[in-house]
Amino acid sequence: MNFIPSDKKHLNDWKRIIIPDDNELHKIDHYISCGGYRALEKALEMKPEEIIEEVKKSNLRGRGGACFPTGLKWSFMPKNSDKPKYLCVNGDESEPGTFKDRQIFEHNPHLLIEGTIIACYAMGVTSAYIYIRGEYNKWIMMLQKAIDDAYTKGFIGENILGKDFSTQITIHRGAGAYICGEESSLMNSIEGKRGYPRVKPPFPAQSGLWGCPTTINNAETISNVPLIINNGWEWYSKIGASRHPGPILIGVSGNINNPGVFEMPTGRPLLEIINEWAGGATANKKIKAVIPGGSSTMILRGDQLEGVCMDSESLKSAGSSVGTAGIIVMDEDTDLIDVITRITKFYYHESCGQCTPCREGTNWMFRILKRFQNYEACSEDIDLLLDIANNIEGNTVCALGDAAAWPVQSIIRNFRDEFEKRTKASELKEAGN
Ligand SMILES: Cc1cc2nc3c(=O)[nH]c(=O)nc-3n(C[C@H](O)[C@H](O)[C@H](O)COP(=O)(O)O)c2cc1C
Repeated sequence: MNFIPSDKKHLNDWKRIIIPDDNELHKIDHYISCGGYRALEKALEMKPEEIIEEVKKSNLRGRGGACFPTGLKWSFMPKNSDKPKYLCVNGDESEPGTFKDRQIFEHNPHLLIEGTIIACYAMGVTSAYIYIRGEYNKWIMMLQKAIDDAYTKGFIGENILGKDFSTQITIHRGAGAYICGEESSLMNSIEGKRGYPRVKPPFPAQSGLWGCPTTINNAETISNVPLIINNGWEWYSKIGASRHPGPILIGVSGNINNPGVFEMPTGRPLLEIINEWAGGATANKKIKAVIPGGSSTMILRGDQLEGVCMDSESLKSAGSSVGTAGIIVMDEDTDLIDVITRITKFYYHESCGQCTPCREGTNWMFRILKRFQNYEACSEDIDLLLDIANNIEGNTVCALGDAAAWPVQSIIRNFRDEFEKRTKASELKEAGN
């Protein structure tokens, strides 16, 4: 796996900032010598509400899937609460096709820590949890070392940098359940309960961890905060796409010559990312399909990609979304029925079972897709599959149901011919030909 290749010629003015070209940044003294923790110093001289305003004006949007405006989310936290307030940094990263947060844990952990402390100060939070998927043992250990070093230097703990502000950071290991990346299950999991999503309202800012005001942000989202504080909202908002700005970590995998994670400004054309950054499809084959933002985003046809860019507006117009920016490329030889069966099996396996449409529906979709795989499906099965997906979408407590329905709906919409071909082949098989 090729991680973070060097800066690209066609983006001469672009220097990577989340993951710069520097292998020593995980060492705290080196991070400080490169200007690290200066944003924290600056932030502690500002009023908390000024920081929230700065983040709002920067237009930073969450990198955890829904592209929700971060400053707006922070502003939902009550100002005068007599309860403790919490921040959960989401590094569960279990979406198939997504492997970008681990780059931050490994290559620039102090940027994440600095962003976490600034976010805590802005929202009056006294305890932050960084929730990381359990399989990421190596990265958990690396991040823990960086946190320990930051405690030693007085950046975390009591009276940070001599100010009347104290906050703690604790890593919480996940235990291998995709559902625990969903923000309310994540809070239940931290509380030691089963990772079941909670019904909203109340929203986490009203009643989150242990019934107290809580904000949940993705690890990459939080890592953008020191950049905004250091350079100002105007600078930040001019990077990439204006309605969804900033640097973004994009993972590219599948039938591709140079898979890896690439940092670039938002808004780059999908075809440029696939062909120039990630080296194009293997063996120069035609691209049949692309999943742009992790397995739960709508699948696009290869011939639909012209003019589509990696930002929320452009992908929305193309009928999909940025999600967690995990692009999966599938070439002309890919059996899309195998792909969607595998994806659906994942959601069926990971459904927590709380909501009937998701618990039963993911299983039914998987069983029908198995019929397609085994050349046993009939033509009615296509609409039956679509009907089940349509009945899951929007009818569950959390978005795992939507995440299971969208790939199925989009693959039938965009590749119905593949399903029809398969049912014809099944009928011929049944007739003994
Ligand atoms: C089933 C499911 C799994 C999720 N997994 C993750 C995850 O691993 N990491 C993440 O940041 N967000 C994940 N999310 C989204 C979170 O619920 C939440 O929206 C996000 O952490 C908010 O951060 P942001 O505003 O910074 O994007 C998941 C959502 C669902 C429905």
